[in-house]
Amino acid sequence: MVRIERILAAMTIDEKIGQLNMVAGSGAVTGPGRRGGLEEGIRNGRIGNVLNVWGSAEVHALQRLAVEQSRLGIPLLVGLDVVHGHRTIFPVPLAEAALFDPATWESTARVAAAEAAADGVTLTFAPMVDVARDPRWGRIVESPGEDPWVAAEFAAAKIRGFQGSALRATSSLAATAKHLCGYGAVGAGREYASVDVSERTLHEVHLPAFAAAVAAGAAAIMPAFIDVAAVPMTANAPLLQGWLRGRRAFEGVVISDYNAIAELCNQGVAGNTVAAATLALKAGVDIDMASEAYTQGLPQALQRGLISTSQLDESVSRVLRLKERLGLFDDPYRQGALRSESGPARELAREVARRAIVLLTHRARVLPIGQTVGHLAVIGPLAAAGGEMLGPWPAAGRPAETVSLLEGLKTALPRCRIDSVPGVDTCHDDLRGVPDAIERCRAAELVILCLGEDASMSGEAGSRADLGLPGCQRALAEAVLAVGKPVIVVLTSGRPLTVPWLFERADAVLASWFLGSEAGNAIADVLTGKFNPTGRLPVTWPRHGGQVPIFFGQRPSGRPFKAGARLSSTYLDIPPTPQFPFGHGLSYSSFTLRDLRCTPRVVTGGETIGVSVSVQNDGALAGEATLFLFVHDPVASISRPVLELEGVRRIALAPGATGILSWQLPVSALTFLGADLDPVLEPGEFEIHVGESADPGGLLRCTIEVLPSGPMRQD
Ligand code: BGC
Repeated sequence: MVRIERILAAMTIDEKIGQLNMVAGSGAVTGPGRRGGLEEGIRNGRIGNVLNVWGSAEVHALQRLAVEQSRLGIPLLVGLDVVHGHRTIFPVPLAEAALFDPATWESTARVAAAEAAADGVTLTFAPMVDVARDPRWGRIVESPGEDPWVAAEFAAAKIRGFQGSALRATSSLAATAKHLCGYGAVGAGREYASVDVSERTLHEVHLPAFAAAVAAGAAAIMPAFIDVAAVPMTANAPLLQGWLRGRRAFEGVVISDYNAIAELCNQGVAGNTVAAATLALKAGVDIDMASEAYTQGLPQALQRGLISTSQLDESVSRVLRLKERLGLFDDPYRQGALRSESGPARELAREVARRAIVLLTHRARVLPIGQTVGHLAVIGPLAAAGGEMLGPWPAAGRPAETVSLLEGLKTALPRCRIDSVPGVDTCHDDLRGVPDAIERCRAAELVILCLGEDASMSGEAGSRADLGLPGCQRALAEAVLAVGKPVIVVLTSGRPLTVPWLFERADAVLASWFLGSEAGNAIADVLTGKFNPTGRLPVTWPRHGGQVPIFFGQRPSGRPFKAGARLSSTYLDIPPTPQFPFGHGLSYSSFTLRDLRCTPRVVTGGETIGVSVSVQNDGALAGEATLFLFVHDPVASISRPVLELEGVRRIALAPGATGILSWQLPVSALTFLGADLDPVLEPGEFEIHVGESADPGGLLRCTIEVLPSGPMRQD
């Protein structure tokens, strides 16, 4: 602290503003425009932070300018989107969410942090913890899915993983929880569009993950590009100052999104750069990422008394404090950072990738493919597309080091003849390769059809209005299905795709998302039965784009859906039910649940309810069951969602074996935000449901009673 006060006292206004300035280097392009003069700016103290540079040589060269050639020698923060790995790329976050496993979420972040830190990075713009319920929005791929409870668990695990036990450790990165908040609710799923959600939805759905990130010690928070109910988040004082710094006591750094401060002018709340910079600083945004609005606007804002020196100093101190916490003043080059060994990282990537695969349908029991298969046709534009498997935000991942499905299958089935052609590409209407593909299918015993999106079709600026297969892939698929051979579809995508015709006609369909460096080996493990699939959908999968936003935590309708009843909550042309519910995911085993028990059945506020259920593996293979615990308050002072997730547990079972899964559910988990948005625990009956997914037909239920007078949970 003394050091920071000393530095602050020695700084000119320009040097202070320089500490709030983050400028893009040339390693990756993640936003509009880039200015020159990076080196000169660092030397003269006008640039205190950089992003999109990595590699110790490049980073150390810039750091040397800051430390050895700038007047005060203040080290740089070096930021990068280390989202799902740095050099070793793990599955995209939506895929990793399918594991429902915080310990794994933490360990992949740990590896990513160690690799990135060894490459000179000090700060990651991750985790992204936006709840996403609309697959039109491309950034659903970066999110942990639709559920606020999962998002909160994911946020905390990722922060623990990236930051380790101390930020000073040379294998730690400062983490940035983003994008506060509501970005997942952009209107009609269109990127950068306006968001209009109720105060209740903000607090129930979009904010809990950020509260969890702050509680886990997140070093930084990034406000979203969008406006929430007309107030751009980059200038949203009620949420940034009131909620984040006030109610959640966040003491870290707020970093704007890329160019977002300047974009306040486009959003219609600032007429010029001075006004934009003033609004953002007053709302509590410390660092200006890439817009230069602070450099250009803050000197005048100060001169005109629009902001005060102490407001400026507060932001500067927060940035300096983060640099101090990272140990950068003592060790600006993070000398101890070692590149972690790639072998164990690749093993982890393969293990996580195969656990992320969701077996969506399995009609004809064609899986697993045994070692005896003699001739496979591996068809489709994504069969040999190793680089695409890295998905959006590949950081320093290398396409050439990424295993395609074709390569994975060749290694897994060395004695099998494997023919492969793309047939079509992912997005154009050129069918000339189809006849050749069909010939190969005719000659083979079995077809693996690799369809879906390429990496650029989701992620930022990756919204799609049509959730079907892009290009002419459907024509290829129809032709392949018409051959009459068994067809297993591997669906690569950053979002649920609405392909009901494919689910009906293919013998099996796997959701393989973007699985990262080890994608092909992981998919081959599942196809060949080396690994019995365990992944579960972290999002409800619609049957039609017209159903979105779609999610399991709906409020009950006064006229609930009843098949055949016109005056019920449905559509005329399709049922309102999803293609696959949240939590869906098949295994080569099947499981039976019995004996849901809740004890005690009558409770008061401070107590805990023991919930247990017995689960049996009915299959012939060892497998893992994943069970979800939901609660429902059937009669409350306000309408409560039909299901709310409160826990997930997994159990590995040998064939025929039975095990017990249990939870300790604190009664305080039944607290909700009452009509005035204050937490309340209302006495009365509550339902506890346990099942393999959110499909209401498959849930076991028991009822408990909460007696009056319980103390309320303080949230
Ligand atoms: C994205 C952020 C990202 C930033 C820096 C922006 O365009 O919205 O999520 O962290 O760029 O790359």
